[in-house]
Amino acid sequence: MTEFLKRAALAAGLVLAAGAAEAACEAGKPGDELDGAEAGAVYDCLADAMHAGYRKKGKRWIPEAFVNDYRGWTKASAFPAAPGFHAGRFLVTWVNGAGAAEYMKYAEDPAIPAGTVIAKESFSVDDDGKARAGPLFLMQKVEAGTSPETDDWYYMMVAANGTPMAVEVISACSACHQGNYGFQGGLGYPVEEARIGN
Ligand code: HEC
Repeated sequence: MTEFLKRAALAAGLVLAAGAAEAACEAGKPGDELDGAEAGAVYDCLADAMHAGYRKKGKRWIPEAFVNDYRGWTKASAFPAAPGFHAGRFLVTWVNGAGAAEYMKYAEDPAIPAGTVIAKESFSVDDDGKARAGPLFLMQKVEAGTSPETDDWYYMMVAANGTPMAVEVISACSACHQGNYGFQGGLGYPVEEARIGN
């Protein structure tokens, strides 16, 4: 473990299971009692193992570069927030260079350019305070007219262990995004207090 992680863990009163292949990150209290800083400390503890997990195995139809590179994109979340969607998990959003400036206006009816890719990491903290990586959610804006049914968004999902997950994207992703957030170009955006502006 790096000095940085040790300090982050101590600062948050986290207990790290030494010797485990993937350090267990414990928040010390249930997920719904964590404030932003505490959720951030859990994220700092989990972050390396989480990214390594997403990167395991072949990605088949999902471009590997998205999964390998998203940590180098622009982070739109000031801290991991759990708004109750995506199964109540804590979420951290990253946007690639093509779309970061427009996404981070959090506008109604944004002009998101084709080529934009958004990655949303997720993790859960159970009632015993134990943190666990959840899936990586991806949205890619493709050329206008490519996928009219989803407003030209491709949706993808990678399990915490790196497996690309075959989901029926219309019902599992697009229906909620378009149905509830069509007025925001299909984007849910992080909860307001967790947004990093540009
Ligand atoms: C029940 C509604 C719902 C479903 C179903 C859903 N999402 Fe989301 N999604 C949201 C909300 C709400 C947000 C914004 C939440 C936040 O960041 O706090 C969001 C955010 C995202 C983001 C970040 C971009 C944005 O909208 O701001 C990605 C990427 C994403 N979802 C991918 C997916 C994928 C892939 C699926 C299907 C496997 C999916 N979502 C299913 C509601 C949903």
